[in-house]
Amino acid sequence: GDNKLSFKGRVVIITGAGGGLGRIYALEFAKRGAKVVVNDLGGSLGGEGQNSRAADVVVSEISEKYKTEAVANYDSVTENAQGIVQAALDNFGRVDVIINNAGILRDSSFVKMSSSAFASVVDVHLNGAYRLTKAAWPYMKEQGFGRIVNTCSPAGLYGNFGQANYSAAKMGLVGLSETLAKEGYKYNIRVNCIVPLARSRMTEKVVPPPILKQLSPEKIAPLVVYLTHESTEVTNSIFELAAGFYSQIRWERSSGQIFNPDAESFTAEAILNKWPSICDYRDKPFNKTQHPTQLSDYNALIAKARDLPQNEQGSQSIKSL
Ligand code: NAI
Repeated sequence: GDNKLSFKGRVVIITGAGGGLGRIYALEFAKRGAKVVVNDLGGSLGGEGQNSRAADVVVSEISEKYKTEAVANYDSVTENAQGIVQAALDNFGRVDVIINNAGILRDSSFVKMSSSAFASVVDVHLNGAYRLTKAAWPYMKEQGFGRIVNTCSPAGLYGNFGQANYSAAKMGLVGLSETLAKEGYKYNIRVNCIVPLARSRMTEKVVPPPILKQLSPEKIAPLVVYLTHESTEVTNSIFELAAGFYSQIRWERSSGQIFNPDAESFTAEAILNKWPSICDYRDKPFNKTQHPTQLSDYNALIAKARDLPQNEQGSQSIKSL
C-alpha cells in the first residue's frame, strides 16, 4: 500500500547480526530493499572465540530469499569498528542506518564479578556502540541523514540480580543516545533506544519456556524498522517491547518540594521532614510532575525556588507550598 516503508537505496549496518535479534533485523531490512552489512564475530555468549560462519549464513539466507545485496563482516565492535563502516562504504558507498545490537553476557553476583567480566561486557555493549557510531557519524553528518538504534535492556533500566556489568553498559547506552539525539538533530540524525525481550540464546536458559514461546524476535523487528525509516522523525526516546507489546518509556520527575531560601532551611532534617513530599508524584498547586527531556527543563524549577517571597520564611524553617 501507500504506507510501505521501503529501504531501497539505504545502507544498514547491524552488529551481532549472525544470530538472535540481529539476524531477524537483517532479513527484515533486506526484504525492504536495504543493502545490509551483516556484522558478527561469531563468538560464544560469553564472548569467547570467533567464527565467520554466523554472518556468512545470514548473508546466504538474504541472497536466497531477496534480490538485495548483503555483505558479511567479522570484525569485533571492540577491535575494529572502523572496519565495519569501511565494509559499508567499500561495498555500498554509504551508511544510513546503524543498529547497535552486538552483545555478550558474563553474569555473576557483584561480589563474584571479576574486573575483566565487568570491563569486557561494558566494552562490547557500550564502547562497541560508541566506536561504531563514532566511525559512521561524520558520514551521516555530511549526507544530512542518519538513523541509529541502540539496544538497551530491562536490566539496564531497572537493574537485575547478577548483571551489574550488563546493567551499567545498557544504561550507559541510554545516556549516549540522549546526547547524540541532541547533537545529531540538525543533521537529520535520529537516535533512539529499544528495550526488547525476545527469545534467543541470551534468554533461553533464564525465561520459562511458556513465556519464551511468546517472545519471538520477529515481534521486535517492526519497531526497529519503523524507527530507522527516513520518514520517521522520532528521536531521543526509549521504547520497551516484547511479545507484540510496544510502548514508550520516559523520565518522570516528582512534583517535589521547594524549601524556603534561607540557609537554615537547607538541612538534612528538612529533607527528613519533607521526604514524602519530595518523592510525591502527584501534581501540587505550586508545582507539577514533569517528563524532562533536556537540561533546560530545570529552568522553571530553579526560577520558582529562587523567587519565593522572603516573608514566607516565618518561624517555621520549612514551608510547604
Ligand atoms: P545473541 O547472543 O543471539 O546475539 C548477539 C550477537 O552479537 C551474537 O551473534 C554475537 O556473536 C554477537 N557479538 C558478540 N560480541 C560481538 C562483538 N564484539 N562484535 C560483533 N558481534 C558480537 O543475543 P540477542 O538476544 O539476539 O541479543 C541482541 C541484543 O539485544 C544484545 O545487545 C542484547 O543485550 C540485547 N537484548 C536482548 C534481550 C533478549 O531478550 N534477547 C533483552 C534485552 C536486550
